[in-house]
Formats: sequence, structure tokens, C-alpha cells
Amino acid sequence: MTADTTQPHIGQSAATTHEGILAWVDEVAELTQPDRVHWCTGSDEEWTELTDALVASGTFTRLNADKKPNSFHAASDPTDVARVEDRTFICSVDEKDCGPTNNWMDPQEMKAIMTDLYRGCMRGRTMYVVPFVMGHLEADSPMFGVEITDSAYVVASMRVMARMGSNVLRRMEEVGATFVPALHSVGMPLVDGRADVSWPCNDTKYIVQFPEERMIWSFGSGYGGNALLGKKCYALRIASVMARDEGWLAEHMLILKLTSPEGVRKYIAAAFPSACGKTNLAMLAPTIPGWKVETLGDDIAWMRIGDDGRLYAVNPEFGFFGVAPGTNELTNPNAMRTIDIGNSVFTNVALTDDGDVWWEGLENTPAHATSWKGEDWTPDSDELSSHPNSRYCTPIKQCPILAPEYDDPRGVPIDAILFGGRRKTTVPLVTEARDWTHGTFMGATLSSETTAAAVGQVGVVRRDPMAMLPFIGYNAGDYFNHWITVGKDNDAAKLPKIFYVNWFRRDEDGGFLWPGFGENSRVLKWVVERMEGQAEAVETPIGYVPTPGSLDTDGLDMTEEELAQALAVDVEEWKAEIPQITEWFEKFGENLPAVLWTELDGLKARLGA
Ligand code: GTP
Ligand code: MN
Ligand code: MN
Repeated sequence: MTADTTQPHIGQSAATTHEGILAWVDEVAELTQPDRVHWCTGSDEEWTELTDALVASGTFTRLNADKKPNSFHAASDPTDVARVEDRTFICSVDEKDCGPTNNWMDPQEMKAIMTDLYRGCMRGRTMYVVPFVMGHLEADSPMFGVEITDSAYVVASMRVMARMGSNVLRRMEEVGATFVPALHSVGMPLVDGRADVSWPCNDTKYIVQFPEERMIWSFGSGYGGNALLGKKCYALRIASVMARDEGWLAEHMLILKLTSPEGVRKYIAAAFPSACGKTNLAMLAPTIPGWKVETLGDDIAWMRIGDDGRLYAVNPEFGFFGVAPGTNELTNPNAMRTIDIGNSVFTNVALTDDGDVWWEGLENTPAHATSWKGEDWTPDSDELSSHPNSRYCTPIKQCPILAPEYDDPRGVPIDAILFGGRRKTTVPLVTEARDWTHGTFMGATLSSETTAAAVGQVGVVRRDPMAMLPFIGYNAGDYFNHWITVGKDNDAAKLPKIFYVNWFRRDEDGGFLWPGFGENSRVLKWVVERMEGQAEAVETPIGYVPTPGSLDTDGLDMTEEELAQALAVDVEEWKAEIPQITEWFEKFGENLPAVLWTELDGLKARLGA
């Protein structure tokens, strides 16, 4: 798919009085040699010029305004569709600080390699400077960043996903703010008469975090998680290091507000691995009467202990970057309402003949569409119309059930934390931890089958601690210790209660035992009732699970036998987990907190293993 070489050429460069930013921008321009430098304002005019230029260059297709106003379709290069974990590095000065779960390279060595790659890499292109803040501009200490990128697609997506532009830059100037420098290039200079393509990228990819310097370098990919550097790279990998040093938590968690029919209000955060249901749960439409869910965030939570000793969470993002396939009126009606409003970017879904988007699982299957690969697609096609990791990128403010507290820079006090993963067997629908340390053990041993959200084999069970395996910016053993310390240093009674859920257990025929989606409100109800001292539970070797009668199953199409299977704690299955957990813990050597070994010993004893 070649396109003409029209480059977005936008406005006049608006320089800054912030000397640090200016010096860095000059240095990067000197190295990367762009044709133009554009300082992003975040204005509507800029959006229009950018998106027009992206349409002209063939990266974007404008959608039918009657269906999705001010919205665009993009198709990536077929090799650039997901996060690349094997190309992601934590370049700490000391290899020990990277730990056994991350890739490491000496920072000087990495800088030498990447500096060579960056040299002249923006020739023929525009270099965009995107000032942004993760979280609120009015936060006590706003978390600033500046992304330099040669991708207009990234700029358009950043405008949806983060608070960015002139007002952020002005504030940075006023306070002389420190910021996380985040450098991104697709790695395809337009030299020697080379024509541009609709999705420039490079076979050589590096996604690199320098934790001590709080700096990000990304090369070769245009895909969201690799290229929108405020998200996974800053708000999780770099922020987790800041959080360790400063005593807070940066987590891969949704945030929701739940109100019972009696008006009891709880805030819940939940960590599930990529493509395991955070966005769905965050916008849940409860099936049980009188219960109400409001959304605060669907992917990342920054949590700090407040003056009252409770754990307060904010969502540092400004948009949703949600998995498209499977999203529909039944599974996530609130996401459908959010994207209906428009102002969205859809990547790697199918384009219908009437200028709308479609993906597997959506209603109204079209008789014909253009697949994400640009090929003719019909319902009889052997190939999928949309990549399994295709995404919608849409403003959070459009969510019809956005909680007003979203705008509060202080965040909301979290009552419960849910961990969860995708397991066909073994893990029951819901388990309550005995205490914070046990909850940390549950999080540290969280396991899930791999999904299409990262490049690699799908469906393999791996440990994904706190759903943070690809996102912990330091030694995961130290990260577990940080969690334990948060529990020790604070009043246990005020900390959130911890639960572990699994929506994905299967029956003998391979079908899901639990209907999931809106029905997950029944599990949330049990969680609330446990916290209120109302619902019953049985103590099992792995924690407290609901008695069959304590879970609200009114109107649920499920037999008693099926429910029992969903809730079952099978001692033999759990015994089989022990060697895997042992092997997992052994990876961390001295860095693993001793109390987690004690937790494992306790579990073994209770199982008779
Ligand atoms: P990232 O955005 O990559 O971090 O992932 P996420 O955790 O937000 O995942 P998302 O909510 O987009 O869920 C992705 C997949 O999980 C989709 O295929 C959904 O259909 C499926 N899913 C979500 N909730 C449920 C559920 O309760 N039951 C079942 N069976 N599938 C679910
Ligand atoms: Mn995620
Ligand atoms: Mn999501």
C-alpha cells in the first residue's frame, strides 16, 4: 500500500521558553534531521489539519460522518500489530535492578545502538513535539512528559489518550517543570527518493526505558503500546520506578465506582492481563436490578495513600485504547455509546462498504467489507476481518457512565482490588484473600493464558504478576517487596480488601462456565457484601470462596452443578500449581520477600502438598 508523499505540514513552529525542552528538542532534531519541527498545540484546528493530512497520505480513511463523526480508520503494517515484549528493554545501570522478568542491556551500549538508528531517521518527515501530562494538570505534582515523534498517527492518538498541548506546555514553562523525555521514531526516513507508505515502520524495533534517567526511547513501531509513550512506557514502566522510590503504586488496573440499590458506594480497582477484560468490567452494565457502575478508568491506576490512610486512585489517561473484537451491544454497550459519538481512531478493524467499521463479534455482519489487510472480506472468508488485537481509541469524556470523580485530581479511595486472569481450569470464579499479604501472594502468582495483545504464542499459561509482567520497570522481586511494604507501613483496616477472579473457567466441552460481562455484577455484589459483612463464604486452602447460596443467581441461566463447578476449589488441581509457583518464586532469589515463601508454605500445608 503505497501513498503519496504529502506530509502533514502544519502552522508555524511555536517554540517554548522552557530551556530544558528547547535544548532536548534541538539535540534530537540535530540527530534525527527532520525536514520540519512542529510544536503541538492540541487545538481543534491542529486536529483537523493532522487528520486531513493523514487522510491525504493514506494512513487514515475518514469514516462516514452519519455513522461515526470525525472518526478514522487506520490499518497498520501486518507486522506491526501489538506490543513487542522481546524488543522491550529496561536499561537500568545495574542489571540486578532490571530483574529476571525483563530484557536488559547496559544503558550506554543501548544508547550507542539506538543513537545510530536515530541518526537521520526523520529525514523527509515532520518532527512533532507533544507536551503532555499523565493525570491531572492540577495534581499536587503534575506528571509531565514530552513526546517527540515523527508519526502524525501517534500525535492524533496522543491527543485522544492524554492531556496534551499548549496549556500543558505553558504550565511546564511557569513552573520550570521536570519531565519525562520520550523519543519515538517509526524508523523510516524518506531518503533517496523513497516513497512514503501508509504505515511506516522498521523491522528493527526497540522499546526502551532508562529507569534512573526517567527516559524513554522507542524505535521502529507505530503501534499504540510501543509508540504512544505516555501509556505503557511512562504511566506503567517509568511510573512504577517512581512509585517504588516515592511509596505509591502504578498499576495495570481499571477503576470503577459501584453503587448498590441501598446507596452503598464502593470504588474498585482491578488488574487483569492485556485482553482479559479490564475495559469490559470498567464499563459494566449490571444485569442485577438497582446496581449501578460508573467508570473512572479502564487500564491504568496510580494509587497513593491519602492523609486519611486510605489508598486513593487516579486514572492518568484521557481516553480508552480498547480491544475491538468482541465489543458489542451485549458485552459492552457503554463502549459502543462512547465510540458512537465519534472523534475516534480505529486501527486494524474492517472497513464496511458504507464507510463504517466492523469487527468480529459486532452485530450486523456486513455481506462485504475490506479487511484490516486491505483485502475483500465476506462472512465466508477464511481469514478474520479484523486483527484480534485491533483497537478503538476514543475520548474518555464521551463515556456515558463516566464518574464525575474522574475529574478530581485527588482520585477516589479504593475499597477493593481484584486480581484476575484467563484460566480454563483450577482458579474459581472469585476468591477473597485473608489479608494484604495473602492478597499480594495472589497477585504475585497471578497466572493467565497469553493473548493477541502481545506478539507471540496465544493460549500459553504464564505467571503475570499483578497483570504487570510486561510493565514492571524494575526487579519484580523488589516490586513484590514494595507491595508488602505498602501493607506493612499502613493501617490494614483502611487498605483495600483483595480478591481474585476468573471469568474464563471452562466446562468439559470447552464452553465458558460463567456467562461473564454484565453478569460479573453478581460477583461485584458478593465482593461488596463481603466487605459489608453480609455475604457468606467458605474457607478453602486458597482463600474464601462464595457458598453457592451467597452469590446472587436470580434470573441467571445456570444449573447448580455449573455454579458449583465455577466455584470449585479442586485440591489436586491446586497441588499441580505448587511446582510452578515454586519455580516462579525461585527466579527471584534473594529479591523475593520471605513472607511470600511463608504464604506458599501455608498453602502447601493446607493442600496437604
Ligand atoms: P488491555 O486493554 O489490552 O489491557 O486489555 P483489557 O483487560 O482491557 O481487555 P478487554 O476488556 O478489552 O477484554 C478483551 C477480551 O476479553 C475480549 O475478547 C472480551 O470479549 C473478553 N472478555 C471480557 N470480559 C469477559 C467476560 O466476562 N467473560 C468472557 N468470557 N470474556 C470476556
Ligand atoms: Mn492494558
Ligand atoms: Mn483495555
